[in-house]
Formats: sequence, C-alpha cells, structure tokens
Amino acid sequence: MEKYHIVQISDTHLFGDKNQKINGSNSYQNLKNVINHLISLEKNPDLIVVSGDLSQDCTFESYQHLANLLNRCKIKYYFFPGNHDDVNVINKVFDMNWMQDKADYSFDLNGWSVNVIDTSVYPEVGGELSDKQLKTLEENLKQNKNKPTIIFMHHHPVLVNSRWLDKMILKNADKFNAVIKSNLQIKAVLFGHIHQVFEKDINGIFYGSAPACCYQVLPKTETFTIEKLNAGYRLIELDGDKFSSRVIWVD
Ligand SMILES: [Fe+2]
Ligand SMILES: [Fe+2]
Repeated sequence: MEKYHIVQISDTHLFGDKNQKINGSNSYQNLKNVINHLISLEKNPDLIVVSGDLSQDCTFESYQHLANLLNRCKIKYYFFPGNHDDVNVINKVFDMNWMQDKADYSFDLNGWSVNVIDTSVYPEVGGELSDKQLKTLEENLKQNKNKPTIIFMHHHPVLVNSRWLDKMILKNADKFNAVIKSNLQIKAVLFGHIHQVFEKDINGIFYGSAPACCYQVLPKTETFTIEKLNAGYRLIELDGDKFSSRVIWVD
C-alpha cells in the first residue's frame, strides 16, 4: 500500500476580522501561510485534519475564512470543535448537523481506522467525554479491531508538565486512557489545545500534539508564556501499519 500523509493543523483561532491578532499573532495570516506552504509542496499530503479551536470569536465569517483557506489547496479535509468553537455556527457555514459537545465521528483511511472524539464542553475551557461517548468509542474500536487506528481529539488526555495546562487536562482522562490501553490496534492519540509540541510513548502508543497554527507557548512552565508567533503543523505518515510523525514549522 502506498504511504499516506496526513497534515494535522491545530488551534487556528480565526477571527471574523482578518487583521485581528491573538497574543501578537495574526491567526488568519498564519493559516494562510500554512496553506500556501502545503500548496507549494512537490507532493501534496493526502488529508488535512484541523484539531479544534478553529475560531476565536465564533463568528460566521471566521468559519468562512477557514472554509475558504482550506478549499484553496484542494486537499480533502476534516475538522472538529475545540473549547473556543460554537457548533451551531459551524453547522451553518459547513452545512453540518453536529450536536453541541457531541461532534464525534469515525472514518476509514487506506486500511486504517480514524476516530475523532469531541472533548469540547461549550462554552467551558476544559474538556470532558461523556460515558456515552466513551461507550461509542469502545464499540467502534471493537468493530474495527483489526485495523491500525488513530484517535484525534482537542484536549490533552495526559499531563504535559505545565502546571497551568495540567489543570485543564481532559477531565476523565483515566477512563479514556484505560480504553486506549486495552485496544492494541491503536497506534496514536493526537491532540491540540496546548499550543506547543508534546510527544510521549505510553505503552507503545504515540501521544502527541500538533503545535498551534497561531501562537505557541513555552513548554514546562508554571504560567502562560508566549514562545513564538509563527505556525507549525504535525506531518503524519502511515506506511502499511506503521505510524510516524514529525513537526514542521512554517515561516
Ligand atoms: Fe487553542
Ligand atoms: Fe483549546
């Protein structure tokens, strides 16, 4: 089977106003830079996944900007909400039928199974999964036991060694990680939200974040500290049943 490449973009935090900045970073320009960079690649990735905090102001226009920029590169894409997103507005722009806090879905990809779970609890900052969501995830994993699997989510399900961020860890992370541990087909758990690069192997499963598309914060800090303003993304390679990934920075 051909190698398959996924670009995970996260935390675009777009505004209706293209010139508005967030913590010094022009989020519209940063996403535009990433999209232009992807277009310029000799070999285009096969898929883009945007892992939440799509908008900062939840305006119709901000989600329209996301649609326009993503459509520009003619690469298939998926996305899902983060704590900053209003599903009711997303539904209008993208013609979805998502429920608030329940925009879970799954799909097959080149012999792999991909599970997207919605950890957002609008309008709270923290993330949580309902028992029903966990049950559905478990059932879906059971049905696709023989396929190598990736999980995408917004909030971090493991401690990332920053006191202020670790207070915001997925509320029922223990229950979630128990499900992950008992499904040996899972190769990776990928998330956003923390605006920094995190990578850890836990029981042979890769837990990793994509950097934010807008500003980054310094890892391993007591309090929120901006690190840099340019964008990055995680490039994922699926080769047979092997998962690998690395972070790419875009100037
Ligand atoms: Fe964010
Ligand atoms: Fe977030």
